[in-house]
Amino acid sequence: MGLAANVQAMFHAMAEDEVLKNTFASYAFEYFEIASYKSLCVLARRAGDAEVERVCREIIRQEEAMAAWLGDHIEQITEEYLVVQGHGIGTPAAARTEAEARV
Ligand SMILES: [Fe+2]
Repeated sequence: MGLAANVQAMFHAMAEDEVLKNTFASYAFEYFEIASYKSLCVLARRAGDAEVERVCREIIRQEEAMAAWLGDHIEQITEEYLVVQGHGIGTPAAARTEAEARV
C-alpha cells in the first residue's frame, strides 16, 4: 500500500467505522495500483526496457492477488465489525465461521 492509501487511512482513523472504510479504501487502492502498473508496462515497452515491463507484470499479479483477497474478505470483515460493535449475534469467531461457510 502506498502513501496515498496510508494518508487516506489516517483520515478514516477518526471514524467509528474506520475498519470498514479502510478496507474499502485498500480494495480501491489495489485497483488504482493495478491500473498504474499496466500503464507502466506500456511505457517500459515503448522505452524498450523488457526487464521493467517484466517486473511490472509480476507486481500486477501480486496486486491482483491482494485485491482478490480483500474482495473475498469484505463480507467477513463486515460480519466481524458488526459483532465487535455489538450489532451482531454471537462472537467474532462465530461470525467468521458463518461468513466462511457462505464463501
Ligand atoms: Fe498494493
